[in-house]
Amino acid sequence: MPQEDREMGKLKDRGLRDQRWYEKEAYGGFWELGYRNLNVSTMGGPSTEVIELAPVLSPGARVLDLGCGEGRNSLYLAGRGFDVTAVDRSAAGIRKLEHFASLAGVKVTGIVADVATMDIEDDYELIMGHGLLHYLSVDEVRYLLTAVKDRTVDGGYLKWDSHPGIGMHHHPNEKMIAVKPGGLGLPFVVETLPMSNTHLDSSLFSRIEIGMAESQLESLCGKPEYVNTFVAPGLQFGPFHGVKDTGFALHQWYYGMTMVEISEHVVRAKNSFKSSPARLVAKGPTNLKENLIMQNAKNAT
Ligand SMILES: C[S@@+](CC[C@H](N)C(=O)[O-])C[C@H]1O[C@@H](n2cnc3c(N)ncnc32)[C@H](O)[C@@H]1O
Repeated sequence: MPQEDREMGKLKDRGLRDQRWYEKEAYGGFWELGYRNLNVSTMGGPSTEVIELAPVLSPGARVLDLGCGEGRNSLYLAGRGFDVTAVDRSAAGIRKLEHFASLAGVKVTGIVADVATMDIEDDYELIMGHGLLHYLSVDEVRYLLTAVKDRTVDGGYLKWDSHPGIGMHHHPNEKMIAVKPGGLGLPFVVETLPMSNTHLDSSLFSRIEIGMAESQLESLCGKPEYVNTFVAPGLQFGPFHGVKDTGFALHQWYYGMTMVEISEHVVRAKNSFKSSPARLVAKGPTNLKENLIMQNAKNAT
């Protein structure tokens, strides 16, 4: 019997669930099934925007991760010394997060709750709703937006998007980082990546497959015009499987306005941009010693 059925059986025995409720969820319970399996990684390592944002947070800043899932972003931020509270309605997601936090030797406060009805009782420097909004009704998003604005400290950040961008299928991808007024001013600059107008044409782009080897990609498309690399040291979720204690590295290969993400020499996502891609670059000294997370190489060789 598959592990998740055994788990469901146990829940039924305890009278907690009477059916496979998650099958009614979007994608037939893709998230829930992934959270019940410690050997898979549903989303891979931390989101690139979270890696970019971490250096500008105050040391030990309080972070609230709403709809945290298995906790790839919470785990990364806790590993950088931030005080993270992570909330998801999936008990399996919170269990998995707590399991890996304990393996990594970091503390994350996990809470099983519905973000649409919970009260946010404390104040935070960063509140994230990452890949969460498309699960909520417009009224729920309005309620939550008001609550998180109130509970963000002056000068704090709201990271708020509905599709976090694992590019396995084409999907509009909006990302927003808002800064609450009252702080010391913007601690980062938004840099537009220096792209030319060249891009992979649609027939070539459609031949790039998730899971393809980096060397095959290079034979198909040639060397990229620009590479943007993100490194997350310490125990992190890998792109296609469970966690790795050797960290996570993601390389974005830009061909004009098309981009392919590579981790462990394998293609894990592909993206096409309608407006110029941008990144956040911290101004001045930052709180993280390992703030060499973006090593950018023009005309990568
Ligand atoms: C696409 S996953 C994103 C997980 C995580 N933020 C990440 O980026 O890896 C969406 C998550 O939102 C959670 N979720 C959806 N609706 C929720 C709600 N009303 N309350 C709490 N969590 C919710 C799901 O259980 C799932 O873990």
